[in-house]
Amino acid sequence: MKKVLFAASEAVPFIKLGGLADVVGTLPKNFDKSLYDVRVIIPKYSAIPEEYDQKMEFVGDFNMKLASKRRYGGVYRLEHDGITFYFVDNEFFFAGEKPYGEMSDDIEKFVFFSKAVLSVLPLIDFKPDIIHCHGWQTGLVPVFYHDSFAKEEFYKNIKTVMTVHNFTAQGAYELNAVKYMTGLDDSYFVPEKLEAYGSANLLKGGIVYADYVTTVSESYAEEVRTRFFGEGLEGLVCEKADSFKGILNGIDYDQYNSAKDTYIKYPYDISNYEENRAKNKLELQKELGLKEDKDVFLIGIVTGLVNQKGLDLIDCVFDELCSENVQVIILGSGEKRFEKIFALYSEKYPEKVSANLKYNRCMAHKMYAGCDALLRPSLFEPCGLSHLKGLRYGAIPIVRETGGFKDTVEAYDEFKHTGNGFSFRNYNAYEMLNTINYAKDIYEHDRESWNKLIENAMKKDYSWGHSALEYQRVYETITN
Ligand code: GLC
Repeated sequence: MKKVLFAASEAVPFIKLGGLADVVGTLPKNFDKSLYDVRVIIPKYSAIPEEYDQKMEFVGDFNMKLASKRRYGGVYRLEHDGITFYFVDNEFFFAGEKPYGEMSDDIEKFVFFSKAVLSVLPLIDFKPDIIHCHGWQTGLVPVFYHDSFAKEEFYKNIKTVMTVHNFTAQGAYELNAVKYMTGLDDSYFVPEKLEAYGSANLLKGGIVYADYVTTVSESYAEEVRTRFFGEGLEGLVCEKADSFKGILNGIDYDQYNSAKDTYIKYPYDISNYEENRAKNKLELQKELGLKEDKDVFLIGIVTGLVNQKGLDLIDCVFDELCSENVQVIILGSGEKRFEKIFALYSEKYPEKVSANLKYNRCMAHKMYAGCDALLRPSLFEPCGLSHLKGLRYGAIPIVRETGGFKDTVEAYDEFKHTGNGFSFRNYNAYEMLNTINYAKDIYEHDRESWNKLIENAMKKDYSWGHSALEYQRVYETITN
């Protein structure tokens, strides 16, 4: 039996800022339990809902040396959905309404957390064969391991995997400050190690010192070999080619199951989707104050409102889009400028546009079950998850051909009746608009083909099964 410890800054259902939390919280369930014992460790934020906090069991205290200081903390434990989760407690770092989000505070938080992940292993009595690190927040785990822990008897022969969920999130910070916080020797802060473009770069440290590096789709793994997508780390990625690969994310098939979904009024499967999706659509329109019309082309946008998501393309042609017989529902929060844009459109087109500027899980499920299409025109997208959830529910994706979208959305072919969505190549608002109108045309005039798209989408497997096997292969490679 091999032991694996996932280390990350977030995991569903405890705390979620982005797709990272879905991956960390649900992938562990999908490993072969006769071969792998996979557990998870995250910070114990005050923002974790009370219902979970109450159920946590105290494991013990630790005290560790970090740079010139001694730092204290506690560890808690909770079984959830068959998986053991550990929580590192430290009120100084993890209190506050927002778990994280300001780089000046975050760096120190995750320096602490990364060293704590290693320090608490004897306390929790779990010596992993592999520590699987997710995101820059855990980039220092392989570095600290290499620096001091690897030599100690208890810690011998632990391997590390670093999964990069987004190459734009690197945890780059003022070099001297990081030197001071970590207590790492000057020799670490050179271009072959943690230094990048004058800063200390935690993600880079993780990539350099991990035994294996992965990212979240095959296409993105290719893309990050170039300057635009690699965000300055493309050289390192190319160097690591032998121990670097893309493994596509999946989604949790229990949580996202249109036949058993308790958030939606009319659950359905492949035998009755047409009738029940239409009913869910009317419910959704009613709830959001849109004109109730089962035949209007209803487009959903479920996404963080950040630059990478291609929202400027949507803004550019929004009025033209709204001159057609469509409705648009936006769900997500993020940068104020985007929130403002969508709020204005919903005022301008009250019967057609609904802007819901706070992520809400229940609403997301209702959208997967009631929208006809989901629009994802991202500039880049390491994997993307909401379109996978949509596919599972038969909401047809309209995506730009990049990253994970490229690996999961097969463009509809009107002659062969194959495909599960629509896609366009260039980052161009009119190309996007033409593609939306093409999809709408099929929806309006060729319902048989549209239904075929829905069936193709609903039948394909987007669960974790295949990817979990790929990760197992990585674990085997580095431990044998
Ligand atoms: C990041 C990426 C997204 C990916 C998610 C989970 O949020 O931007 O594409 O799906 O991580 O890996």
